[in-house]
Order: sequence, then C-alpha cells, then structure tokens
Amino acid sequence: MRILVTGAAGFIGAWVVRQLMARGLEPVLTDLKRDSSRLNLLVPDWERLPFVEGDITGPGFVEQVCREHDIRRIIHLAAWQIPSCRADPIGGALVNVVGTLRIFEAAKCVTNGVDRIVYASSAAVFGPPDLYPDRPVAENVILSPQTHYGAYKVCNELTARAYWYESGVSSAGLRAHTVYGLGRDVGVTADITTALKALVLGKPFRIRFGGLIDLQYAKDVAEAFVRCALTDAPGAFVYNIRGHPITVGEILKEMAMIVPQAETLLSFEDKPLPILAEFDDSALQKDVGPIPVTPIREGFEETLEFFRRLHSEGRLTLPL
Ligand SMILES: NC(=O)c1ccc[n+]([C@@H]2O[C@H](COP(=O)([O-])OP(=O)(O)OC[C@H]3O[C@@H](n4cnc5c(N)ncnc54)[C@H](O)[C@@H]3O)[C@@H](O)[C@H]2O)c1
Repeated sequence: MRILVTGAAGFIGAWVVRQLMARGLEPVLTDLKRDSSRLNLLVPDWERLPFVEGDITGPGFVEQVCREHDIRRIIHLAAWQIPSCRADPIGGALVNVVGTLRIFEAAKCVTNGVDRIVYASSAAVFGPPDLYPDRPVAENVILSPQTHYGAYKVCNELTARAYWYESGVSSAGLRAHTVYGLGRDVGVTADITTALKALVLGKPFRIRFGGLIDLQYAKDVAEAFVRCALTDAPGAFVYNIRGHPITVGEILKEMAMIVPQAETLLSFEDKPLPILAEFDDSALQKDVGPIPVTPIREGFEETLEFFRRLHSEGRLTLPL
C-alpha cells in the first residue's frame, strides 16, 4: 500500500517516516523543500524514498503526486504552527485550511485511488480547562479554541466530516497536545525539547509556559498516525491522544532526576497554555490500540542520548 506523507521533512513527519519504514513500508514524501535536517537524524536510509518538493496549497499539486505515485493513503502533517498562524492568520489559513482542503479534494478526484486520509488535528481545538468541568474529556464536547490555529483545526475536522458524507472519503484526525523528541524545534511547546537540549549543552533555558500539559513522545504519536493510516474502518473519525498529563514544574523535576543540573539551569514561566490537557483516549485505544505510551523517564533519556551524540559531533545548537 503506497502512503504519502505531507510535511515529511518536519518533526512529526520524520518520526512517521521512521515508524513506517520500521514496518517495511516505503512511503512517498512531500514537503516544501527536500530538507534533510530531521530525516537524516531519524531515518538513515530515507534518501532512497521518493521525495516530491512542492506547496500543498498549489492547485493540482497533491492530486498529481497521488496519480504519479499510485497513492492509497495520505498522512497529512504539513501545517503552520501557532506562532506563525498568529503572526499571519491569512497565510496560516491558506496552508492549514486550504492546504487540507487540497488534500481531501485530491482524494475525492483520484478515482479508485486514495481511500483514507489521516491528518493532524490538535488539542488546540479545545479551549482552556475551566470550560470543561468534567475531565478527562472525550472527543464529543464543545470546541472553543482561543487561537487561529485551533480554529483552523476545528475547520479541518468539519471538512473531513463533509468529505465523508458528501464524497465517501474516509479519514481520521488526531489531536496531539505537546509532542517532544528529537527534531522538535518549531512552536512554543517545542520548549520542552529545547530544555533537554539546553541540559546537554549546559546552558540555562526558560520554558515560556507553565501549568498542566499532556506530554507525548514523538515515537508514540507517530505510531498512532501509522496505525490510523493502516486501518480500513470507513467513516470520518477524530481521536484524542493521551500521553502523560503533567505540570511543567513536575517535568523539570523529572529532568533533574536524570540530569541534576536541571535544577539550576532550567526554569519556566508560570503561565498556563489556554488549552485543555486531560483527555480520554479510549476511542483511539479501542479502534487502533493499544497505542504505546513511553514512560517520561525513558523518552527523556532516549532524547538526551540523541542530543549527546549530536553534541559530541559538534552538531547541537540551541534555538533561542
Ligand atoms: N508538534 C506538536 O506538538 C503538535 C501538536 C499538535 C498538533 N501538531 C500538528 O502536527 C502536524 C505536524 O507538526 P510538526 O510539529 O511536525 O510541525 P513542523 O513545523 O515540524 O512540520 C510541518 C512541516 O510542514 C511543512 N509545510 C508548511 N507549509 C507547507 C506547505 N504550504 N506545503 C507543503 N509543506 C508545508 C513544513 O515545511 C514542515 O516541514 C501539524 O499539522 C501540527 O499542527 C503538532
């Protein structure tokens, strides 16, 4: 089965390619540019895969890739993150909303071709926790995002439903919260990964938020995308993902258990993200599970190990 990964040079994209190849699958990759920075780190033999450079918002681009490569499934990850959408809401809508429409439209137009799209929604579809007194929350609650990014993700979930009812295109949207791991460097919640990097470099770092988050390891999130792409259930599904609900203060304590210097090097702003962090993921676990949840200590140690290796090769830099 040929799978197309959009945003394949991005953080979650590279992890998804890694998980697909670990299964012996050979996906087709697409992104704006053939950027090797994350793929080289995570997928040593990625260069033998087809890589098509292009802008998903371009008319006909996704459809042409699907036809040329006989694509059956799409894992759609190309998007702008919260800060870019805030700085340029129209540009953000073009990529996140129109770009997603282009993916679904391509699936609709390629007859006997793409029969399933798995796309990245986000926990940002939810508003702040005080809007949800009954926690953890399942998928079917009122969505009240407070960011343009979250509003675009709600739109995408509704778009996916419309393509199921009007055109029979099956889909699954996954609502990740704070994903960490090697290759995470875009967006405010990248600060958790940057803090691990700072520890390896022995530099001080201040995380720009606090409060409760749901901490999710990239390997587990990538696995959820892959499982959803390989299933055949017809319909338009949307799933919460649950990792570890934990406060940023507790995360720093976990880091200090592994690297004691974390106590002096790391700090955080006591400003919670305006996004709920307590999710019921039983629908995802029932339909495609069990999805692994890597213990925090193990995920941090694995990430630190990657960073130490890069540091010893003189290749670790801190984006501040
Ligand atoms: N990282 C997280 O914690 C997190 C949490 C929730 C949801 N998500 C969602 O998961 C998806 C992947 O996130 P990520 O962290 O890998 O982001 P990322 O920024 O690392 O990767 C996104 C990729 O999309 C590509 N892209 C952007 N505009 C494009 C365009 N017009 N055409 C083609 N490609 C384009 C970029 O070049 C980049 O490689 C996104 O939809 C994001 O909103 C991420």
